[in-house]
Amino acid sequence: MQLLETVNTLREQLALARRAGKSIGLVPTMGALHEGHASLIRAAAAENDVVVVSIFVNPTQFGPNEDLAAYPRTLEKDMAVAKEAGAAIIFHPPVKEVYPDGNATWVDVEGPLTAGLCGRSRPGHFRGVTTVVSRLFNIVRPERAYFGQKDAQQVQVLKRMAADLFFDIDLRIQPIVREADGLAMSSRNTYLSPVERQAALILSRSLAEAKRLVAAGERNTAAIEKAVAAFIQTEPLATIDYIELVHPSDLARRETLTDTSLLALAVRIGKTRLIDNTFLEVS
Ligand code: PAF
Repeated sequence: MQLLETVNTLREQLALARRAGKSIGLVPTMGALHEGHASLIRAAAAENDVVVVSIFVNPTQFGPNEDLAAYPRTLEKDMAVAKEAGAAIIFHPPVKEVYPDGNATWVDVEGPLTAGLCGRSRPGHFRGVTTVVSRLFNIVRPERAYFGQKDAQQVQVLKRMAADLFFDIDLRIQPIVREADGLAMSSRNTYLSPVERQAALILSRSLAEAKRLVAAGERNTAAIEKAVAAFIQTEPLATIDYIELVHPSDLARRETLTDTSLLALAVRIGKTRLIDNTFLEVS
């Protein structure tokens, strides 16, 4: 496995691979790799000849009061995880390589896809994500790129961006990977103290509670959101950012449940903001 830090060296290696007829899969990450990332890399390795894992803590997707400085940086361990899962190249550029002096171009998906959910409490976040991912797509030019369903809104925003900009890249979305007790894997879980780690189970448990209500016949969105909020409020360390039942692709709020809906939530456990989601099916 190679560790490359510049766009030029990466492009040289990828040109060789392309000349040899090899397909390229990209797994964009911000590092602090966990089993969720490993599942993306394994999926990429199963479908592509060469897997590039980018490890880049993208400054433009963090708000001024967010955790950019504190975000875990664990390159040595990340390299071991990526190699084990089947990566051929780690692309780990300095900020100047992705955002060269004088750069002035942003990619912004406007409208309802980015206005609600995480977009409401993290203004500018998705603009940072789409800007960096479009740069990575142009740098790597992969056949396929891999993202986790844990970031359900990011998935829909990136699909919109890829379609609108005619990126000829297949976005391959992989299911949420959870710890044995249900907590969705996240690099931010490392911020949790042991007591907070236990309290964080309220997220996945509240999704299970919503599924239970739907199985019992509840179809009213507001009633489900209210019940989920009440459930989460039983945990003293939890502060709700949002709980919303939306259409799984346009992310528009739903009044009643029909076929498949997405229940998405963001909850602070102490100072750590965690997100989780699940599909609610009505037959
Ligand atoms: O999902 C993430 O880790 C990031 O938002 C991404 C897609 C790597 C862009 O920085």
